Amino acid sequence: MTAAGGHTERVRQRTHEGFLRHKGFRWAQIAALLCLVVVAVYFFVAARLQEPPSGGSWLGYVLGTLSAGLIVWLACLGIRKRVITSGHYSLKAWVSAHVYLGLSLTVLATLHTGFQFGWNVHTLAYVLMMLVIASGAIGIWAYATLPQRLHGNRGETTRKQMLEALESLDQQLRDLGQPLDRAGAQIVRLSVEETDLDGGFWRRMTGAYGDCANLRAMRLLKALPPAPNPRIAEVLGKIDTVMQQKADVLGLARRQMQITAALEGWLFVHIPATFALLAALTAHVVSVFAYW
Ligand code: HEM
Ligand code: HEM
Repeated sequence: MTAAGGHTERVRQRTHEGFLRHKGFRWAQIAALLCLVVVAVYFFVAARLQEPPSGGSWLGYVLGTLSAGLIVWLACLGIRKRVITSGHYSLKAWVSAHVYLGLSLTVLATLHTGFQFGWNVHTLAYVLMMLVIASGAIGIWAYATLPQRLHGNRGETTRKQMLEALESLDQQLRDLGQPLDRAGAQIVRLSVEETDLDGGFWRRMTGAYGDCANLRAMRLLKALPPAPNPRIAEVLGKIDTVMQQKADVLGLARRQMQITAALEGWLFVHIPATFALLAALTAHVVSVFAYW
């Protein structure tokens, strides 16, 4: 991408993918440098301590305060997003810093703990932080890769077309199933009546449809005894083809739903987990000072 791209280029840059490479990865570099410095200091200090380093050492306090400060700042993005400012690029810089400094917490907070974990509120805060970070990473992946894929599939129009295609394939299956005996008709019914396009949020996210009714019907069709006459054999062959077409359309529609779910779903983890993290972190800090 060159600067000669002009206005459209700039507009495109402002969209979600732009924040990752904002100002030549400036925030990635700052975050990486921060991690390097902290790792170097940690191992320099650790080598000179009698006890293994922990959150309670002076370095632990420094890293804990730094991490907590960062977390509070990162959590403010929700507020920042809703404040309208004149500069187009300032929010992009915020998101860029948010992503890379957020990732650096995996190093800062982990070194703060001195690798001491247990079944307590401290570790709860840590786990929640990791959950927020992991969901953020999924969000990044979604923003960076999915919109193009959705647009590649032509978004909403295609979804409608896909539903229509499925309906028409089902109608073909019903028609083709007419001359079949009971076993054959049952297989057709299995595909037409039992196939569940989406199957709930979790399935939509994971895309796990191994027990899809249409697939089961295809397997049963193959397991049928040889057709009694050539006409039925031909019908069964056609049914197999239509079911295969149906499987293809289902695959496409489900991939599309998975993309949409990922595009929206991660924020349902990212935001509530942020609130839980802030609560656990407050409990952690309060309890640490209460037992001091
Ligand atoms: C103002 C900020 C913070 C302060 C003052 C602080 C203080 C402390 C102290 C004193 C300890 C040692 C406790 C002990 O040895 O029993 C500790 C441990 C720990 N801290 Fe923090 N902390 C802060 C921020 C954080 C953050 C941001 C996280 C992660 C999200 C975190 C996670 C932990 C964990 C997992 C431990 C290890 C607990 C254990 O030994 O089982 N702390 N912290
Ligand atoms: C403990 C660390 C983090 C906290 C507390 C945090 C918190 C938040 C909050 C409160 C929002 C605003 C959501 C909204 O109101 O719409 C947000 C947005 C976001 N976060 Fe995080 N986050 C953290 C780490 C990360 C990481 C590591 C990544 C990426 C790897 C990330 C990626 C994002 C993205 C992409 C957005 C949406 C920005 C936009 O809509 O333009 N976050 N985060």
